[in-house]
Amino acid sequence: MIQFLLNNEMIQLTKFVPNMSILDWLRTNMGKVGSKEGCATGDCGACTVVIGDLINGQWHYKSINGCLMLLGNLHGKHLLTVEALTTKPNPSLEQLHPVQRAMVECHGSQCGFCTPGFIMSLFALYMSHKSYPGREAVIQALGGNLCRCTGYEPILKAAEKCFSYPDNDQSNIAHKDHRFSQQVAVLTTNLEKALADNEIPTVSLDGENQQFYLPQSLKQLCELKANNPQAQFVAGATDLSVEFSQLINQKQQLISVRYCSELMVFEESEQGLEIGAALPYSEFIDKFCHIYPEAHELFERLGSLQVRNAGSLGGSIANASPIGDPAPLLIALDAQLKLQSIRGERLIPIDEFFLDYRKAQLAEDEVIVSIHVPKRQETFKLSCHKISKRIEDDISAVCLVLSYQLENEKMQQVKCAMGGMAATPALAKNVAAALNGQAFNLDTLQTAASKIAEDFQPLSDVRASSTYRLQVTKNLFDRIWYQSAGQIQSLSVNLQSTSAIQTRINHASL
Ligand SMILES: Cc1cc2nc3c(=O)[nH]c(=O)nc-3n(C[C@H](O)[C@H](O)[C@H](O)COP(=O)(O)OP(=O)(O)OC[C@H]3O[C@@H](n4cnc5c(N)ncnc54)[C@H](O)[C@@H]3O)c2cc1C
Ligand code: FES
Ligand code: FES
Repeated sequence: MIQFLLNNEMIQLTKFVPNMSILDWLRTNMGKVGSKEGCATGDCGACTVVIGDLINGQWHYKSINGCLMLLGNLHGKHLLTVEALTTKPNPSLEQLHPVQRAMVECHGSQCGFCTPGFIMSLFALYMSHKSYPGREAVIQALGGNLCRCTGYEPILKAAEKCFSYPDNDQSNIAHKDHRFSQQVAVLTTNLEKALADNEIPTVSLDGENQQFYLPQSLKQLCELKANNPQAQFVAGATDLSVEFSQLINQKQQLISVRYCSELMVFEESEQGLEIGAALPYSEFIDKFCHIYPEAHELFERLGSLQVRNAGSLGGSIANASPIGDPAPLLIALDAQLKLQSIRGERLIPIDEFFLDYRKAQLAEDEVIVSIHVPKRQETFKLSCHKISKRIEDDISAVCLVLSYQLENEKMQQVKCAMGGMAATPALAKNVAAALNGQAFNLDTLQTAASKIAEDFQPLSDVRASSTYRLQVTKNLFDRIWYQSAGQIQSLSVNLQSTSAIQTRINHASL
């Protein structure tokens, strides 16, 4: 049985189809049709719902795509849908939730199809801030929500206005939202008790050999996988659910890696960083970027906030996609993967992990437990670049991450890791050889960049042509130089003026 809270209700489920998304369940099983389905691939945000994680007795809320997250991964969580925000029929303006009231007052909705998604993204922002966090935070929060008819400026104004209404109750469970406080406090206590008594929750659909497993230790997880070799792991399901909805590639048995504490760690030690393979991006980006601020833009541009609230490094690496953004970064950082099965544990350098297009050195019974990143040296330099058609919520055409040690003004141990240039994320070895032992200057960078065609003969596809990929990579070496010389800023510094939302605002105002 899985147990979770849905708005002000306790839900206990013993039967459901393993690959059922939260959105399908809400709309088809619960008759809650406020959350909309636009794309079913995480691209439009119409399905956005808010999920609470219970940490030390306190709920922490975040937005996610209901079309991607799987129902089984709701175990122990609090799901909030747009229906919960205003429960009174025909409410007055003052009876609406502050984010809804602000959207009405600022004229933030026209056809209204996107509106529940915007409301829920704004609601998550509202729940996690005591006052207006500024335009850049709002743009980040709304980066995964598309609106085709209103235009974004009224929505951005609503995001500011919702924080301006009087709020008399700051002491409640949902930070500042008294609508959930009393009932949810009682339900939370009940849920905590139920979870404490729980064994491994295994949910099955009668007689059809369908299971959704939620192992809570690495040992249980490896045993389950060994006993059910056909079962597939699932973390945030931001990749897997797209397979379910687009390729109609259904799975009979899924093993969630999200309830296994060994896969959810983030530890910093003298040896470096240990990042749990199942930890959602948004739970480690800030800590990671405290050590590697150069990677901030890469993470900030990985999908949308909803995707980063769900997706994980383990999911990205296991997918072995040539265009996943984390792999080039981790290759340039000399990361190692910890893999585990009932046969034991092994460590493998990430640059040896990828074998061919979406093929990796991961045995059928193995799980990725964590990613080890060696401790940063004082002489270590890093430069990360993503080329995509849109700034936010877009997959890379090319990703380049350059790392080196700067010793006696010479570049040493150079690594130039690239995505989008071959069947796997890979090192540009000729480029690196041309940089090794050289001074860091524009001439050296341009000479090395000219070797790129010796390393890669990229494909032409919908994202970019082969010629474009080679040329833009050469240009990136110029950017590396001008950025280091302080002559151009990184995109994230300029986010407010260059973001996709801002671009759409500019278009809308033409
Ligand atoms: C709208 C949208 C935008 C996106 N934008 C980007 C982007 O800009 N950049 C980018 O890099 N990616 C992007 N992605 C892809 C995706 O979000 C990432 O690849 C993410 O990291 C996948 O993690 P997950 O936890 O959701 O994986 P899941 O979907 O849960 O799993 C993916 C695969 O990995 C396997 N798996 C999961 N965890 C483990 C484990 N611990 N051990 C072994 N196997 C495992 C699963 O069986 C499955 O085959 C986007 C996706 C969407 C839907
Ligand atoms: S329906 Fe479009 S993101 Fe979920
Ligand atoms: S109001 Fe119509 S799509 Fe946003």
